[in-house]
Amino acid sequence: MTTATHSSVTETAVKRAIPMNVFRQSAPLRAVCLENRELVGPGGIGTVRHLVFDTSAGPYPFLEGQSAGILPPGRDANGKPHKLRLYSIASTRHGDTGDGKTLSLCVRRLEYPHPETGETVYGVCSTYLCGLKVGEEVSMTGPTGKAMLLPDDPTATIIMLATGTGIAPFRAHLWRMFRENNPDYEFRGSAWLIFGIPTTPNILYREELEDFQRHANFRLTYAISREQKNAKGGRMYIQDRVAEHVGELWELLQRDNTHVFICGLRGMEDGIDAAFEAYTAGLGIRWAEYREHLEKSHRWHVETY
Ligand code: FAD
Ligand code: A2P
Repeated sequence: MTTATHSSVTETAVKRAIPMNVFRQSAPLRAVCLENRELVGPGGIGTVRHLVFDTSAGPYPFLEGQSAGILPPGRDANGKPHKLRLYSIASTRHGDTGDGKTLSLCVRRLEYPHPETGETVYGVCSTYLCGLKVGEEVSMTGPTGKAMLLPDDPTATIIMLATGTGIAPFRAHLWRMFRENNPDYEFRGSAWLIFGIPTTPNILYREELEDFQRHANFRLTYAISREQKNAKGGRMYIQDRVAEHVGELWELLQRDNTHVFICGLRGMEDGIDAAFEAYTAGLGIRWAEYREHLEKSHRWHVETY
């Protein structure tokens, strides 16, 4: 048995160096907030912020699809230091400015009515991050996570299914595919993003996403739950879009280098499974088994929370 817990870089079967836990809770990186801007437009629901951090006190190496840990300051109700929270990194390894010295996050401020009192409760870490001022430092751990890494194959077909802040790793993927000129990754495959959000002003990174449509090999489909209706007259969820396009998605899945990435609300997983299940039943195929085959082939990638 090996204990694969040391910091630094691990080699995997795909012969790619994956940085893991270079910074730990005992010695986190002090990252400086460079930018904190609202992503939800007027009339939208809630607060989602795009945060850029200077990581040059590191370096803090990471790959597209990994997450960073944030240690919120202060203590919980039991007097213990607040626990670490994870956030998907929303930029490529080169960062938004391209110099490899920054990292971005996309954070929704958690707020919900207290089940008994009805008072609004604000999440500890998300509220802390959304309220950060430029110049303030945060304690950052990581990077972590291997589930959402892009395959090396630049000819792959990439299907991305996101709800809300689940867009974060896909922003990184799309920048790597379509915005940066990386000699080690000249993307010639195709990418299809299906994005679930409550209202039009809630379309995070809308301009960037729609701009990528200039590329013939990028396709963008929205499921705007509170503006569009599904076939049954209910809210249009991402799984309704999957059901709508399931024949085409199934055809794409028949290619060995098609990958499905799912990120965002945990609740979306069952609906997506149900949409594929309903279709494959008609083909005499058990979806659960087929999905297992995709998982074993490292072609079904899920990060939900
Ligand atoms: P907390 O103070 O920890 O409050 C959360 C708790 O509030 C819950 O555990 C639950 O007990 C309670 N609660 C929540 N909602 C309700 C409700 N409706 N009714 C009653 N009780 C409720 N978040 C992002 O914004 N962006 C990301 O990119 C992102 N990426 C993630 C990646 C990973 C791998 C994981 C695991 C999570 C990710 N998250 C992301 C979620 C993030 O880690 C935090 O969980 C989130 O920000 C809430 O943390 P908080 O400290 O603000 O809330
Ligand atoms: P709604 O809130 O209208 O029910 P955000 O994080 O910005 O709120 O976006 C999350 C999106 O995912 C919203 O459109 C939300 O719809 C939708 N959603 C909520 N629950 C589910 C679910 N179980 N499956 C798929 N989508 C969901």
